[in-house]
Amino acid sequence: MSTLTKLLSWQDLKKHSKKMRNIDLKQEFASNPCRFEELSFKFEENLFFDFSKQLVRSDTIKKLIDLAKQRDLKNWIDRLYAGDKINHTENRSAMHTALREPANDSNISKKVQKQLHKMAKFCADIHSNQWISDKKITNIINIGIGGSEWGPKFVCEALKPLSVEGISVDFISNLDAFNLQEVLNGKNFQTTLFIISSKSFSTMETITNARSAMAWFSDQGGLNKDIKKHFIAITACPSKALKFGISEDAIFELWDEVGGRYSVWSAIGLPIAIQVGFNNFKKFLDGAHKMDSHFKNKPFEKNIPVIMAMIGVWNINFLNINNQAIFPYDYLLRNLNFLIRQCDMESNGKSIDREGLRTDYATSPIIWGAVGSEAQHSFYQLLHQGTVKIASDMIISIKSLHGYKEHEQKLIANFISQIQALSFGRDSKAASIIMAQQGVNKKQIDFLCPYKTFSGNRPISSILLSKLSPENLGSLIATYELKVFVQSVIWNLNPFDQWGVELGKEIANSILEDLNDNQNKSLQDDSTHKLVKKYQNQKL
Ligand code: F6P
Repeated sequence: MSTLTKLLSWQDLKKHSKKMRNIDLKQEFASNPCRFEELSFKFEENLFFDFSKQLVRSDTIKKLIDLAKQRDLKNWIDRLYAGDKINHTENRSAMHTALREPANDSNISKKVQKQLHKMAKFCADIHSNQWISDKKITNIINIGIGGSEWGPKFVCEALKPLSVEGISVDFISNLDAFNLQEVLNGKNFQTTLFIISSKSFSTMETITNARSAMAWFSDQGGLNKDIKKHFIAITACPSKALKFGISEDAIFELWDEVGGRYSVWSAIGLPIAIQVGFNNFKKFLDGAHKMDSHFKNKPFEKNIPVIMAMIGVWNINFLNINNQAIFPYDYLLRNLNFLIRQCDMESNGKSIDREGLRTDYATSPIIWGAVGSEAQHSFYQLLHQGTVKIASDMIISIKSLHGYKEHEQKLIANFISQIQALSFGRDSKAASIIMAQQGVNKKQIDFLCPYKTFSGNRPISSILLSKLSPENLGSLIATYELKVFVQSVIWNLNPFDQWGVELGKEIANSILEDLNDNQNKSLQDDSTHKLVKKYQNQKL
């Protein structure tokens, strides 16, 4: 038994979960008129988190908080913000929260502020056509993958209505060159700026795409001397960027202590700052910092990331609900699940704990999702009546920025109705009454009733934003990041390394060598050998 599963609070939750397994949300609301208030939380005037449709009661939360306390969560939070080397397998601190702190006297803050000033100046130069004397940059192309893509890509999409006029941002990440071709098609090399975004500056996908982009630039008529203005880099390995041909003043730095999936707050966020202006980027950082302050200072009973994380632990470890779907109803948030799933699954998708022991409990949820409206018309069927229980986060801004009132109202009506349907379902009695009212005959009612019955009790958290602003978006993303951190503490994992993705990279490099020299040195098994042969012979 692991230290975690031996804990009294864990054992208590195990016992409690037997009683809670058949909880019925309709009855819970009927028996407790304060349930909504007890289990929902407002963050400033900007965000609202409703956990009342999760399969918990207030005493469940209390027990979960006891567990968090027994896991020494407060101390871990303090260590995170103090810059302790809690990334023990890489002997590093985790610095991302320092990126969104207001300027202070610490050495970290000085480094961060220096890069922020450089970003602010760069944005101003781009917007006033000073970066390349008197040439307007109209297209920004970010070349990066994973954390060097999803943060800026998602935020640029989400804040598109705030875009500076005349600037658009595209992203190239895939090794399949159709991605590159599609983005480059129709671009004018003279008005295009490439941002090569790679913490390591050695990721195969990024470096290959960057080389092809440089070749395209030259083919289009770009001169070597112009590369220094049209290609910039964001990296923790400036020497590699210099070697690649990027000029020193066009290199923005981040640091080893900033994990790729937590790097949107660093210079990796430059495409955002260019697209929506540096001031809006700053507000995005401020929103995240506000959530940090809440997280650091609020007691666990009122601490949103803590409650959210512990409900996740409850679903995964005590109710066996491992699927966590994310359904933003705002079209502009349509790719939220891509961002969160990297943060969550790359951080906690692990089974070896901080002591090097295999866990005897489940860890990271399986994160997936889609934008609400479309999802309703495809796979929500399984959510309502399938055999797998799925926990969902439903997210919406209550005030839209597009000005189409009818759309806004209908969207929110769908959002609320899905939450109601998934939580409370419809029993056979209600289904029969409705059919009778519709004039369906008794025989048909008896036949159709099982199909038209919904058990409900699908766990849901709903998150409401006052509007889709840079600040609110910063708070929202930070909430998820901090939730992941809390869960890592409960599960005794290091959320800041990602050894699991290294193996594939290593093998890909040796297979590539084999493909090139036809020697098949690295092939250790028959199946790999035969697959490689198929490619080498170009024949199936
Ligand atoms: O392979 C995983 C990963 O290391 C991610 O953690 C990271 O965000 C991504 O690759 C890109 O890495 P880099 O920024 O070094 O190119």
